[in-house]
Amino acid sequence: MATTPSTPRDNWGSRLGFVMAAAGSAVGLGNIWKFPYTAGQSGGGAFLMIYLLFVIFIGFSVMLTEFAIGRKTQRSAVGSFKSTDKRWTFVGFMGVLSGFLIMGFYPVVGGWSLAYIFKVGGGLLNTPEAIGDSFGGFISNPVQPLIWMGIYIALNIAVVIKGISGGIEKAGKVLMPLLFLILIVVAVKGISLPGATAGLEFLFKPDFSKVDSSVVLAALGQAFFSLSLGMGAMITYGSYLKKKENLVQTTAMVVSMDTAVAILAGVAMFPAMFAFAIEPAAGPGLVFVVVPQLFAEMGGTIGMLFALMFFIGLTVAALTSSVSLLEVVVSYLIDEKGLSRKTAVFGASTIMAIMCIFASLSLGGLGPTIFGTGAFDVFDLLTDKVFLAVGGMFICIFAGWRMSRSDLEKEITNDGEVSFPLFGLWYNLVKFVIPFAVAIVAYMGISGGFESGQGPIMLLGIAIIAVIALVSKKL
Ligand code: TRP
Repeated sequence: MATTPSTPRDNWGSRLGFVMAAAGSAVGLGNIWKFPYTAGQSGGGAFLMIYLLFVIFIGFSVMLTEFAIGRKTQRSAVGSFKSTDKRWTFVGFMGVLSGFLIMGFYPVVGGWSLAYIFKVGGGLLNTPEAIGDSFGGFISNPVQPLIWMGIYIALNIAVVIKGISGGIEKAGKVLMPLLFLILIVVAVKGISLPGATAGLEFLFKPDFSKVDSSVVLAALGQAFFSLSLGMGAMITYGSYLKKKENLVQTTAMVVSMDTAVAILAGVAMFPAMFAFAIEPAAGPGLVFVVVPQLFAEMGGTIGMLFALMFFIGLTVAALTSSVSLLEVVVSYLIDEKGLSRKTAVFGASTIMAIMCIFASLSLGGLGPTIFGTGAFDVFDLLTDKVFLAVGGMFICIFAGWRMSRSDLEKEITNDGEVSFPLFGLWYNLVKFVIPFAVAIVAYMGISGGFESGQGPIMLLGIAIIAVIALVSKKL
């Protein structure tokens, strides 16, 4: 039985508004915080190339699929599957769970970014040699990061409570272009440092001897995470989309913006890193150490102002992403559980905040661990390496095997009004190639993960998916 939403769906106010909101969801900490340190840990150039291949052949197709499913069914993550074939509801539930898990650590990093606006304003750049230690001390502190995380979550609540066209759309439209400009400034400054070319070489000259199955899985996970795919966020955003929009063009715009920002963040970070002799594999602290140091180098008020703008931009980019994560959970609670927006937003945010407390404490060595891994890394690993890719695989299988080819063609071409000559290619990628490719990469990556100690947690992720598939019919 299909559920019918009781009120007409809110719609995006304008074409540009939707592209900017979808790009706002995609461009976030994934591009500027996660991409550089993951590329750094995974060998640089070769990782970038594999990542780009995944973005073009898998990311683009999956995003178009999510938009098409969302707009066709006019339902959010869970409802879109449920209304088509009840047995597939579990894919929606996986998405809602992924939303909780990502929101179990994302606001912690969003909080760091927010804190850095004030730290930069408070004279962090005056002692460049202390910047690295200051970051380490800050994130392992049991109290301070929690306060910033709380403020960050409050900002999310404020945006999402207004509904899509009121809050999310306006925030994205104004602040996304600003961030792009600041990143260009950072990149230009980075490249001009002495010794910077080694960084460009590291990023753009592939050395495939460093590639193993976990690097390939990391690249796939990064592509899904960065493009906001695999958990129904783009299904949810697509469900608010008007019938006359051109889905293919929108997808192309969002994918290119997201990828441009990731590469730009790499160009901003790696040359500076090599110039400052910071290890590329330095890990999650990278952006919080390299960027302040770069601006300290620039010196004076100008350096401080740019650093301020950078962290304001990063915080806003994070915010336009995390609101999309919260929105997936909230729209599920509204559409399927009949909650009011207010109750849904506060209820979901409370649970997310509690998860974030565990995540944040785990970085200081506090709190429970699973297989010796703290909450922050567990949430990150489960989503990045398992749920998003496997979710994306199921979304493709669902579209390819449970929806009719002609319905999809009508949806994507707006009943034949826009031409999409590559429809056949896209359809075959989605129906056959992507499910197969993702399954292989995930299988090999998880097997390979047993060498680095991540294997048991990834296997736990697979077990959770199996349980969701079994119990979802009763939910
Ligand atoms: N893409 C965002 C980033 O790069 C994070 C994000 C937002 C996300 N919504 C998502 C990731 C949905 C996966 C799924 O920071």
